[in-house]
Amino acid sequence: MHINKKLLTIDDAERVSLKEIKDLYKAYINPVYEDVFSTFAIGSELIERAEGLWLYTRSGKKVLDATGGQGVLNHGHNHPRILAARIRYQQQQRMEVHKTIFSPYLAALSANVAAMLPADLNYPFFCNSGAEAVDGAIKMAHKYHAGSRSQILYSDISYHGKLLGAGSITGSKELHYGFPKIPGTVAYEYGNIESIRRTVSALRKKDGSSDIYAIFLEPYSASTGRKCDGEFLKALREICDKDNIILVFDEVFTGWCKTGNLFYFMDYGVVPDILTTSKSIGGGKSSLSAFVARTPVLQKTFGNHHDFVLHSTTYNGFGEECATAIEALNIIADDDYVSQSRRAGAMISAQIAALQAKFPGLVREGVGQGTLFSIRLNIKTELVESALRLLPVTMVKQDRFVYQVILAGITDWMFSHYNVYTSFTPEGINFSPPVIVQPGEIECFFAALEGTLQAGLLATTTTFISNRFLKFLKR
Ligand SMILES: Cc1ncc(COP(=O)(O)O)c(C=O)c1O
Repeated sequence: MHINKKLLTIDDAERVSLKEIKDLYKAYINPVYEDVFSTFAIGSELIERAEGLWLYTRSGKKVLDATGGQGVLNHGHNHPRILAARIRYQQQQRMEVHKTIFSPYLAALSANVAAMLPADLNYPFFCNSGAEAVDGAIKMAHKYHAGSRSQILYSDISYHGKLLGAGSITGSKELHYGFPKIPGTVAYEYGNIESIRRTVSALRKKDGSSDIYAIFLEPYSASTGRKCDGEFLKALREICDKDNIILVFDEVFTGWCKTGNLFYFMDYGVVPDILTTSKSIGGGKSSLSAFVARTPVLQKTFGNHHDFVLHSTTYNGFGEECATAIEALNIIADDDYVSQSRRAGAMISAQIAALQAKFPGLVREGVGQGTLFSIRLNIKTELVESALRLLPVTMVKQDRFVYQVILAGITDWMFSHYNVYTSFTPEGINFSPPVIVQPGEIECFFAALEGTLQAGLLATTTTFISNRFLKFLKR
């Protein structure tokens, strides 16, 4: 077979230099990725190995990964039991593919999910991304009413993913993209029950029946730190019950003990009709998600011979993904991740309070619980605005850009001076470590943040900007 170039092998991939990787990104992925990643100090490193919260770089650094992999890494990197489960699956040459042959792994994983969730949330459908789970849930809710209802409600503060369905009901301005929307999407105000009541009564048909097939909600919004209280969730459940509207909770990010309980909604005894989940169900290795339906919802939608494959995907319930997730859930139960997450949350809250006491004008608040925190700062942006003229003009025009550059400067300083890798959002600095985080690792993060704030925002921001400037000069 003739191919123009020699194909790269895994050996080649593991040996290529950083410069070569960057060239490959520019040529074959997207030159902008190369440009943006290279802006940050971590863009000068390659990761050789990862274990728990620690990254080991090719240059010999040991780096604390405080990101928690955006909710994927509750078990940390390469948890030994997760690795063993995958190796065992492969060594036994198990079967991955066929949907028409009974899978013991799919069966066991489905039973485990049902056992861990409350009430009759008994029927998971496994797919691979959070957005896919959301799209599946939208279809299921629509099917529940056999197409007789046309409206779906979503919150003005929400992120559900970037597929067309999930994107259609993503409300947060900075996360939303101008693509075609599914029909009949209506926004309500996050956490405001009156806003939902008004919308529900506005969307009645002539005969007085509801035209709404589903209401979507992130009970805890990971991207903003906003959360709904028990009173709100109970009132929402009542509204949905009254008009037979499917209530969908999206806990793709916050599930599997990220916010303390197994799922955030479980603190309040309110059960949705469908739950979407993903991220740490895969133990940090398997790309897995699910929408989980209550029994009557499954029965009325895909629970008949005519429609049981109305929703399917090629990679639904793949063997190794399911085997990995079975182990991931057993670890969560065996090692009591609920208690671990709550203990870590208490320690993190105490550290943030101590930081506030040290920097009373600067550290405004810590928002979060479990192992999902955002540290918000009071920042005087005029201090560094003039230095920002060094940056490309289109970027400067973005919303809250100055604030974000300052946060980027802080995280970049934490990496280059303290070997601590963390992320930020437009709201603040994230500390969202794995649930398995140890007290010493929490202390390590806060020592780095304290040292960085002590260096001063002018120093951290101008260093970040001038590194960027130097990069332009080197071109
Ligand atoms: C609450 C929520 N829903 C859906 C998604 C989309 O998941 P994915 O990126 O796997 O499509 C995310 C991703 O972070 C999320 O946080």
